Amino acid sequence: MTQPQALPNHVGIIMDGNGRWATARGLSRNRGHQKGAEVFGQIVRHAQKRGIPYLTVYAFSTENWNRPPEEVGGIMNLLRSYLRDADKYRKENVAVSVIGDKSRLDVDLVEMIAKLEEGSRHNTGIHLNIGLSYGGRDELVHAARQIAAMAQAGSISPQEVDHSLVERCLYTAGQPDVDLIIRTGGEQRVSNFLLWQGAYAEFYFTPTLWPDFTPADFDAALEEYSRRERRMGGILP
Ligand code: IPE
Ligand code: IPE
Ligand code: MG
Repeated sequence: MTQPQALPNHVGIIMDGNGRWATARGLSRNRGHQKGAEVFGQIVRHAQKRGIPYLTVYAFSTENWNRPPEEVGGIMNLLRSYLRDADKYRKENVAVSVIGDKSRLDVDLVEMIAKLEEGSRHNTGIHLNIGLSYGGRDELVHAARQIAAMAQAGSISPQEVDHSLVERCLYTAGQPDVDLIIRTGGEQRVSNFLLWQGAYAEFYFTPTLWPDFTPADFDAALEEYSRRERRMGGILP
């Protein structure tokens, strides 16, 4: 019998299927994103209750900028209202980081994000990373640029570039690798999410569309994770 895994230290969620959920109901895609945002709040609270230390959600990818302007604008407005409620997260003891290329966001959003990150950083509950304008490749390019600048300045030599230096240059610096990646909406692909951090992640795919995802579905993913046998390239004793 294999030893059951403890709870994952870090869960990632690719919250996919908002558009299909809305279209199936004759609603606009943005209504799907609205419902998805509500579900997101419930799942964060639930993950915190379950004692998950780190949660990273994929809210908007670097590729999602290519969607029609009305949809991109709608998602950004949802984010605005989320950030307006920032005080709530402080009370809920959630420490929030927004990960991604913030240079593409509107200035007011960047300011609100900075305030939320600063105001919640000493919270001791779940650490929530929100992937916004996030892409794994983009993150690695961003890290490579920092490392190249250090080398150019003479503060490191090429031999000093190692896993730990790359990790320290990621948006998730100092955080554990992701153990479990949940993807809703039925697609079985990574879509540029946590490419480095997910090197040995367990994947859980469900056809359930994100707006229909419940705390019980989250628990089912944890349950399945607990039955996985993680070998990390080694062999079992
Ligand atoms: C995920 O839902 C949310 C974002 C990517 C912003 P989608 O909008 O991709 O929904 P589907 O996949 O089209 O149903
Ligand atoms: C992944 O979903 C990104 C988010 C959930 C934010 P997409 O809908 O953008 O991914 P693809 O296009 O199906 O790969
Ligand atoms: Mg999608």
